[in-house]
Amino acid sequence: MNKPVYLIGFMGSGKTTWGKKLAKALDVPFIDLDHELVEKIGMSIPEYFSLHGEAKFRLLEQETLHASQNREGIISTGGGTPCYFDNMDWLLDNGTVLYLKHSPKSLWSRLSKSDVHKRPALKGLQGEDLLHFIEEKLEEREPFYNRAHIQVDQINTSLEDLVALVK
Ligand code: S3P
Repeated sequence: MNKPVYLIGFMGSGKTTWGKKLAKALDVPFIDLDHELVEKIGMSIPEYFSLHGEAKFRLLEQETLHASQNREGIISTGGGTPCYFDNMDWLLDNGTVLYLKHSPKSLWSRLSKSDVHKRPALKGLQGEDLLHFIEEKLEEREPFYNRAHIQVDQINTSLEDLVALVK
């Protein structure tokens, strides 16, 4: 594996969980860009959103992405990362891009079990409102996600399948 593998996908699609598993199976480092960003700013993403707003967050997110150039391993991105500026072009040029694909209902069930307040992009929505938000946002973001080099239906894909795909 020369170039890094970038995992992309909607919030709750399992980028961090699968990234860790994949990195372990391939014996390469795992890098979580959201985590690196939090380390850099010294506060949580919800705090940063409320203090500085989303536009500043997206700039910082892009800076963090660019800083990952030429690093080795499996790199998980934030759900919005490929969808701002020319980030998707950059990702395709600088790594192998793997999209962990889910239906809106699958994301809804996964995100309903998580703390929506940890993800400011979800605006604290719950229940049917959350489902509608996911449907709309996914429609907006899928044109970016769908450009990935590799797309996997995350529910029906095993770790062995993923390893074989990126090796
Ligand atoms: C965001 C997703 C989050 C994080 C930020 C914004 C988004 O990452 O980058 O809260 O706009 O989809 P996860 O996809 O890891 O939750």
